[in-house]
Amino acid sequence: MCICLCFDVSASEVKKAIRDGHDSIEKLSEHIQVGSHCGGCIGRIEGILEKKKIVACGGRCEFFNRR
Ligand code: FES
Repeated sequence: MCICLCFDVSASEVKKAIRDGHDSIEKLSEHIQVGSHCGGCIGRIEGILEKKKIVACGGRCEFFNRR
């Protein structure tokens, strides 16, 4: 699934970049350019970041199994 149409970046590429430590819109923009042109993908990227933060709880939070 393409997340950023301007730079043809997929959700899996965004998730990998987040796993590699690029855990903010600014860091992702610098690393894989997402969000740095029209900004139309920022909401989708924020959604992925939010899900990753929930997963980062280590499965202790009530939302973990909804992923
Ligand atoms: S869709 Fe990502 S910057 Fe335009």
